[in-house]
Amino acid sequence: MAIQFSDEMDYENRLVTPDYTEKEDAVVENSLRPRTFDGYIGQEKVKENLKVYIDAAKGRGESIDHILLYGPPGLGKTTLAGIIANELGVNFRVTSGPAIEKQGDLVAILTNLNDGDILFIDEIHRLSKTVEEILYPALEDNAIDIIIGKGPSARSIRLELPKFTLIGATTRAGQLSAPLRDRFGVIFRLELYSPDELSTIVKRSAVVLDIAIDDAGAHEIAVRSRGTPRIANRFLKRARDFADVLGDGVITKEIADLCLAKMEVDSLGLDNIDRMLLRVMIENFNGGPVGIEAIAAAIGEETITIEDIYEPYLMQVGFLARTPRGRIVTHLGYKHLGAEQEEPQQKIKNLQQEIDDSQQTIDDF
Ligand SMILES: Nc1ncnc2c1ncn2[C@@H]1O[C@H](COP(=O)(O)OP(=O)(O)OP(=O)(O)O)[C@@H](O)[C@H]1O
Ligand SMILES: [Mg+2]
Repeated sequence: MAIQFSDEMDYENRLVTPDYTEKEDAVVENSLRPRTFDGYIGQEKVKENLKVYIDAAKGRGESIDHILLYGPPGLGKTTLAGIIANELGVNFRVTSGPAIEKQGDLVAILTNLNDGDILFIDEIHRLSKTVEEILYPALEDNAIDIIIGKGPSARSIRLELPKFTLIGATTRAGQLSAPLRDRFGVIFRLELYSPDELSTIVKRSAVVLDIAIDDAGAHEIAVRSRGTPRIANRFLKRARDFADVLGDGVITKEIADLCLAKMEVDSLGLDNIDRMLLRVMIENFNGGPVGIEAIAAAIGEETITIEDIYEPYLMQVGFLARTPRGRIVTHLGYKHLGAEQEEPQQKIKNLQQEIDDSQQTIDDF
């Protein structure tokens, strides 16, 4: 029988969503943002390179190259951009792709910058084409051309801009236009965090928020946070409630476990939507290979959401793999769900049958 998602599946309020949610994250996120590299755990390669660029720029008294940060939501792009500005000791101006509607909006922002300032554009892949066109000369020549007047008397004047640095952040580097991408001197991809790193982040956050947690409790939250600091911080806050009400105020392994079980987050951080996705692939598509569009249609989600939100973690834990022919559920994935995997022999037979069928169709044609 084909599996369908029930209407009760609440994507919007999914607790393990790495997306920022006003309700869950607004209060703590700012207070938890580290302000220096020392407080920023993990992403060692990125940090190492950045420190060199920052020192070099400082030494020469120049502004740093334009930087693009990309990777799944909640991994610390905004935080890192703030740290770069802080370490350079310059102003940090924040805006986002969707907020800049017209060319004039961007011109206003650019002309109000000072030498050395960092302009941070979040969701930069959502800038409109016309706005992007203003950005090209701004990034390349530190100038913009604006047209004054209309018709035959219109003329273009060039406005010099201060020497600023753009930091762009995006979850979808692939959606950035090539000319824009090419104008970034430095491109960094942020990776999902390891359980050890997340454990350190959880302990750091606990200190900031004055929450008592032991090592085993922090570890339990860490392994179930899908490699994402934002989710780890959210679980920490929830577990505190459980510790206060059901324990003696300290988050232990038992308390963390109880809290996460209540939220239907399993031992590896999968929630019922992740499990459903794997199950659909197994039961409706024989474990794959299956195209992303087919999965999307079967679970009623957009392909983008699957690629950005579900897949990265399912791939990190090794439950799902991408092949040239589509996505497959791995042996580990089967095991985690406790599902029976079809014998390889049977699978080959089925594939052979598929090939024969299509050959037949071609012959008939
Ligand atoms: N390396 C890190 N060390 C400590 N805390 C971190 C780290 N990375 C992220 N965090 C914490 O995780 C939360 C989310 O980080 P942030 O908002 O920077 O993510 P983001 O990548 O900008 O997400 P989005 O794509 O949704 O904008 C913040 O509260 C931040 O303090
Ligand atoms: Mg952000």
